[in-house]
Amino acid sequence: MADALSLAIADLHAFYGDSHVLHGVSLDIPAGECVTIIGRNGAGKTTTLRSIMGLIQKRTGSIKIAGQDVIAAPPEKVARLGVAYVPEERGIYATLDVTENLLLPRKVNDRGMSIDDIYALFPNLKERRRSQGTRLSGGEQQMLAIARVLRTGASLFLLDEPTEGLAPVIVQQIGKAIELMKSQGHTIVLVEQNFRFATKIADRHYVMERGRIIDMIPRAEVAAKATQIQQYLGI
Ligand SMILES: Nc1ncnc2c1ncn2[C@@H]1O[C@H](COP(=O)(O)OP(=O)(O)O)[C@@H](O)[C@H]1O
Ligand SMILES: [Mg+2]
Repeated sequence: MADALSLAIADLHAFYGDSHVLHGVSLDIPAGECVTIIGRNGAGKTTTLRSIMGLIQKRTGSIKIAGQDVIAAPPEKVARLGVAYVPEERGIYATLDVTENLLLPRKVNDRGMSIDDIYALFPNLKERRRSQGTRLSGGEQQMLAIARVLRTGASLFLLDEPTEGLAPVIVQQIGKAIELMKSQGHTIVLVEQNFRFATKIADRHYVMERGRIIDMIPRAEVAAKATQIQQYLGI
């Protein structure tokens, strides 16, 4: 079992140059919980994940990982605490093959999954293990991006739209991987537009609009708030 990490964000503001993008975001995620951040394009979901990871230069407020404030910490330090970020653009190395991509991220401890376990979880990746990054489909790249962080021993995962644009059969495999992370006690923050997928997996949903959290919906209230949620998402 992993040492799951809690995440507590209070009054987070983030800026791109002079552009003020997050306006006092607060989230409280106990260790081992799986939550989503939902909301329309441009709401600030990606910026929130990037802020946690230390990838936004200008940010204020507090971001505590297992009680430790990382508001001023660089990405390497956040990673060493056991936080792994899977960006929307996936970041697969084009000239490395699947196994090389898997081996690249630095381990933070020895509690991560073995390569064999990862290939058992993603048989497609095993078949493609000698293929270069450039030759992978979008779905294979996404699986690889997730597979890669499972090896590192991280226990707080930030996943940005992992199912975007993928075929249902791939989405199912990504769902399986996230379920496995959950069963191992990891903490998961999932940015997700596919709300049907999100509701199957997450314990709670934070709704973002214009750089603020405007609602929080526990799993048990999703059905009753369906119309409201569609409005939030603009669908
Ligand atoms: N690199 C950037 N420079 C300037 N503005 C940005 C940058 N990235 C995002 N933004 C702006 O910040 C806001 C939030 O964006 P983002 O966090 O990507 O939203 P989401 O992930 O919810 O679609 C948007 O208004 C977007 O245009
Ligand atoms: Mg985004």
